[in-house]
Amino acid sequence: MTVRAVLSIGHPVLRVVADEVAPDDVMSEPIQALIDDLIDTMRNANGAGLAAIQIGATVRIAVMEVEDNPRYPYKPNIPLTVAINPVIEPLDDEVVEINEGCLSVPLRGNVQRNVNIRVRYLDRDGVAHDEVKRGLTAATWQHECDHLDGVLFVDRVTDTSTLTTWESFEAFHRDAFVERITAFVERVGS
Ligand code: NI
Repeated sequence: MTVRAVLSIGHPVLRVVADEVAPDDVMSEPIQALIDDLIDTMRNANGAGLAAIQIGATVRIAVMEVEDNPRYPYKPNIPLTVAINPVIEPLDDEVVEINEGCLSVPLRGNVQRNVNIRVRYLDRDGVAHDEVKRGLTAATWQHECDHLDGVLFVDRVTDTSTLTTWESFEAFHRDAFVERITAFVERVGS
């Protein structure tokens, strides 16, 4: 298990469409070692999630975990999740505007995310899952799955005046966003 370097926006690999993992390869040593590195690297950086592409591996694997996250203290907890070949399907048209950050981008900005989604994926044991995710948890899934298609959150920022450094977010935008998103989380429950 190794903390790996996280690629930053501008690195061409972040724009690659990642390859599916063959189900027979899920239990292989290289894939299992990659998953361990993803978890270590995500935790080391206090990320809510990390896609393999962000550490230079162009395969469709993402990890997510939120446990009283200091980068995103308003996010409801997500148990450690390994998503291999995840597929997302919106369940309806409800969207929410979320101020997002990313370990590969030194800015935050507002993006629209679906509130209710269905996710299908394999876990690290190769077991198939078919689940419904809602709210900020659904948004985290959409952010991570975007990475697997070479998409960064900044591509989805339609109002570029919402882009801020983390420092400016803390100084000028955090309180209003946290108030709005906390009410949303209370309504949606996740
Ligand atoms: Ni990201």
